[in-house]
Amino acid sequence: MLKGIDHIALAVSDLDDALEMYRDVWGLEAARREDVDVQGVREAMIPMGDSWLQLIAPSTSEGTVARHIERRGEGLHHVAFEVDDLAATLADLKSRGVPLIDEAPQRGGGDVSIAFVHPKGARGVLIELVQRDG
Ligand code: CO
Repeated sequence: MLKGIDHIALAVSDLDDALEMYRDVWGLEAARREDVDVQGVREAMIPMGDSWLQLIAPSTSEGTVARHIERRGEGLHHVAFEVDDLAATLADLKSRGVPLIDEAPQRGGGDVSIAFVHPKGARGVLIELVQRDG
């Protein structure tokens, strides 16, 4: 069902500031940046071996990332697992009573299909499922 870790997502309050820090301190460069309006975020993807580090910053004061930073500050936001068949994975999780935030695939940055699973389904960690050829 799971192919691997697609990315680890870190919530940051200012994307440009954060990218500068990751470049200067860690020598990392973003390969892609995108405003994902439906999610209310600006994101940058930094290649890390076979997976990615995703930096997400709120683009509005209303979105879930803005609320996350308000409540918990910057830091780990979610872990993303790559799957072959997102719709089938969601149906399987739902049939086993795992609480889903998205019951159907949504469009994520970089034209992938994504869906979020409630942290109750993973011991307090927000999980994103990603289908890259979706
Ligand atoms: Co993500």
